[in-house]
Amino acid sequence: MSPFVLTRTLPLDATAAALRADVSEGLTRSPKELPPKWFYDARGSELFDEITLLPEYYPTRAEREILIARAGEIAAATGARTLVELGSGSSDKTRHLLDGLSSLEVYVPVDVSESALAGAAETLLAEHPSLTVHALVADFQYGLALPDAPGPRLVAFLGGTIGNLLPPERAVFLAGIRAGLAEGDALLLGTDLVKDESVLVPAYDDARGVTAAFNKNVLTVINRELEADFDPDDFDHVALWDARREWIEMRLRARGPVVAKIQALDLAVTFEPGEELRTEVSAKFRQEGVRRELAAAGLDLTHWWTDREGRFALSLAVPV
Ligand code: SAH
Ligand code: AVI
Repeated sequence: MSPFVLTRTLPLDATAAALRADVSEGLTRSPKELPPKWFYDARGSELFDEITLLPEYYPTRAEREILIARAGEIAAATGARTLVELGSGSSDKTRHLLDGLSSLEVYVPVDVSESALAGAAETLLAEHPSLTVHALVADFQYGLALPDAPGPRLVAFLGGTIGNLLPPERAVFLAGIRAGLAEGDALLLGTDLVKDESVLVPAYDDARGVTAAFNKNVLTVINRELEADFDPDDFDHVALWDARREWIEMRLRARGPVVAKIQALDLAVTFEPGEELRTEVSAKFRQEGVRRELAAAGLDLTHWWTDREGRFALSLAVPV
């Protein structure tokens, strides 16, 4: 049997404290706002996996196409012996990288969702019995310490999840990644690309309502973890394209006046009719912007690959 280790670098009480802080701060300010990482309890991770199969949600299929086409080139360019994947989720697309990376010895999936990590490891170990899998329950935004593992290391951040960080957060995040890379290591970054609103909005507001359920799941998480009494039916799911900032925003809009009690915080939160809570930003990118953000963090873009329709890009970058 292959070795499998799961390390929780985030103590449970730290996660609880971070949720309390984000909720008490984010729901008492105007406009109301929460960071998207709180979508991903076990149900949220399942809903995200369902989203990836929707006809409207093209990013997963587009990135998979690139990974299948370019895994050999990525292997040749990096010679990676360790693959660290941030926000790995189900690791479903990762199998194409694992198939291509012939020198790979260690896979380190990193995610806040322990259920996603456990499920992914089981599947991957069955397919790659010689791989060592060291899963990390960790927040990739805060003090991520990568385990000692043989170099060269490839850090992958797929799915376009970097777009869920705000621009200043992206700068801090990329600088942190750069600081952890040694000579010979590389970053593989997935970014969704700017495209027509008529394609973007349905990808975040699908006909079956799976994305709406994913969005509202954050209320269920708050209800369970902080003894709150939000009724998800009191809110509408909203997906908007902000053409100036080139990002999609997901919001929850109160259908009428809402008063919710959050017992664990001894807090009552009120929404005016129509008041919105921003739950996610999903930025879309252009090559010049990706190159610029990488360069600002001390990373040089060496490869830029897109799917045939030019919807999504994978970048390979090395420390300068
Ligand atoms: N990489 C996968 C999953 C993307 S969904 C794909 O491309 O399909 C985003 C993933 O990032 C989820 O599994 C979520 O739990 C994780 N995530 C979100 N914010 C995180 C954070 N701050 N730290 C660690 N993981 C996070
Ligand atoms: C994980 N992340 C890249 C997804 C996205 O497209 O921004 C999350 C998501 N939100 C709604 N649908 C999918």
